[in-house]
Amino acid sequence: MTMASPQTGIFALGTSSHAYLEFDVEAASDGASVVSRVAALREPRTTIGGVNLVAGFRPELWAAVAPDAAPPGISGFNEPLVGPTGYALPATQHDVVIWLTGASYDVVFDLSRGVVSELAGAASLAGELVGWPYHHDRDLTGFIDGTENPTIVEATAVAVVPAGSPGEGGSILLLQQWEHDAAAWEGLAAASQEWVMGRRKVDSAELDPKPPTSHVARTDQDAFGKIFRRNIGYGSVGRHGTIFVGFSADQAILVAMLRSMIGIGGGPPDHLTEFTRPLTGAYYFVPSAERLAALGAVRRV
Ligand code: HEM
Repeated sequence: MTMASPQTGIFALGTSSHAYLEFDVEAASDGASVVSRVAALREPRTTIGGVNLVAGFRPELWAAVAPDAAPPGISGFNEPLVGPTGYALPATQHDVVIWLTGASYDVVFDLSRGVVSELAGAASLAGELVGWPYHHDRDLTGFIDGTENPTIVEATAVAVVPAGSPGEGGSILLLQQWEHDAAAWEGLAAASQEWVMGRRKVDSAELDPKPPTSHVARTDQDAFGKIFRRNIGYGSVGRHGTIFVGFSADQAILVAMLRSMIGIGGGPPDHLTEFTRPLTGAYYFVPSAERLAALGAVRRV
């Protein structure tokens, strides 16, 4: 048997337009039908040249439809995560996520509309975000984002459930919309922003020592384990921020980072959380390409 391969869009870097579409199963439909419809989306008839499509599911929904292909113990973002200071990470779990990336928003827009109409009657659009890269690799805070990401070679080992484990070839995605308090952030001197982030703004060099309250100290991958991030900016002049897009083979790593950021477990809260707030939060299981395709084929006779 060949090893199940991850959905390739997870690792397709360099695209300049992103859409995240979240859906809920309609009352008249069910999880199995929706998975089958989503699997069929990957057929050539709905694929526009150059657009990557990554599909994920609420972990409980996937486990009910494909119990033999679900990592044990993973769950949706079903309750808000609240820190000792009262800072809350909201839970806005939906049933399906479709992440589309392409060279420009016109093709992403067309495919987004195509996906919504293909799923009509089975799942309805519950949330939509459009992301765009800011000055090559910067977050809208002005800092370079992704410096400590694993290389694209290492990323597979970090993000993909290994062969032989349930859910092999799959990945767990944490998706959150963080809205920046631009006025508060831009009111800080550059040196203070660097203290908050734990890195230099110009070149992303790590501060030595890194402040214990800094973002890079509170998410230190040497302490928690590694994840693969595909964050992207979103929004307009009035309201904007970061779409946090983090993949891991192990949901516990993502959960531990979030807990650390809001001060659960004894450490100080992440200073960055004073300047940006999450408005949404959901976990999705992104099954292997083969497993997802098989469910489409079986149902679509
Ligand atoms: C508004 C939200 C966020 C912004 C603007 C942001 C931005 C950044 C920046 C600028 C860095 C430093 C450069 C780098 O290594 O990429 C960084 C590092 C990192 N961030 Fe975030 N981040 C955000 C949320 C999160 C969340 C929610 C998590 C985890 C669930 C996370 C996990 C990490 C990790 C693991 C690192 C690397 C830490 C290390 O040095 O090992 N970030 N982030």
